[in-house]
Amino acid sequence: MDALVQISNVTKCYDSGHPAVDAVSLMVAPGEAVAVMGPSGSGKSTLLNLIAGLDRPSSGTVTVAGQRIDVLGETGMAKFRQRQIGMIFQFFNLLEDLTVADNVLLPAQLSGLRGGQARARADELLAALRIERYQDAYPGRLSGGERQRVAIARALAGEPAIVLADEPTGNLDSATGASLLALLGELNSGGTTIVVVTHDHAIAARMHRQIEMLDGRIITDTAAAAPGQRPRHAAGEDSPPPGPGGPPPGEPAGNEAAGQQTEPGQGAAWMPWARHQEQEGSS
Ligand SMILES: Nc1ncnc2c1ncn2[C@@H]1O[C@H](COP(=O)(O)OP(=O)(O)OP(=O)(O)O)[C@@H](O)[C@H]1O
Ligand SMILES: [Mg+2]
Repeated sequence: MDALVQISNVTKCYDSGHPAVDAVSLMVAPGEAVAVMGPSGSGKSTLLNLIAGLDRPSSGTVTVAGQRIDVLGETGMAKFRQRQIGMIFQFFNLLEDLTVADNVLLPAQLSGLRGGQARARADELLAALRIERYQDAYPGRLSGGERQRVAIARALAGEPAIVLADEPTGNLDSATGASLLALLGELNSGGTTIVVVTHDHAIAARMHRQIEMLDGRIITDTAAAAPGQRPRHAAGEDSPPPGPGGPPPGEPAGNEAAGQQTEPGQGAAWMPWARHQEQEGSS
């Protein structure tokens, strides 16, 4: 199986002290859903940032989607992120001077979608995530859950190969957190690879692979127990699926009219990218 992410003997040292990431090697296959756990300071965010191309290793190599990203220059790195990475940060990192719609449209455009396609994709994501009514508002007036939905729409706008989420539910009430989890599961069911940093064992248990870090090293990796035996998608294990993939509690499944009244958590219907061809030139 070709790796989507291949980290080989990577060390990341900051100014002083123990390396933040210490001689880590890790392979993530396409379609995996991976939870990264470990105590504060163990290097989880650093690892995620190395995969995202937001940080560079002090030594070792990072290859994502067949590209050695540790050797890219700033421009190459930015392009790589735009094309391959969807990042959901704990504090969302929305662009406060842009409207909700532009926060989503910008990454769609940067990923290379042409004008009409980018607009159509942004519109569909806004509708699918139930934030279209805020599209002309600035993020500052939104609630935490609404901001999170904008952050998710933004992360998905460029059709990333991999979605990286760093403590995405850390600042959310449990209902909003559950709905984010369902969204991640659906994404994964659609083939998107997911790596989520979390302190929440319930969230980790719903990914099909768990990695635990301590002092910059990976100390456990459930994939190591059965290499090559992993299911392709998190929802593809026992039935019913343990977590990602189904609609959140209380939300019915099966509305195929995506982009209109679709609720997050309704199967593939809310994921608009399957219908790009039809949408082309629609703005
Ligand atoms: N930009 C930086 N400059 C200097 N040190 C850093 C930087 N980023 C991280 N570190 C250090 O690297 C180590 C790992 O940090 P990291 O943020 O990856 O941990 P974490 O596992 O994500 O922790 P948390 O659960 O608290 O988010 C810590 O000791 C931290 O202080
Ligand atoms: Mg962190």
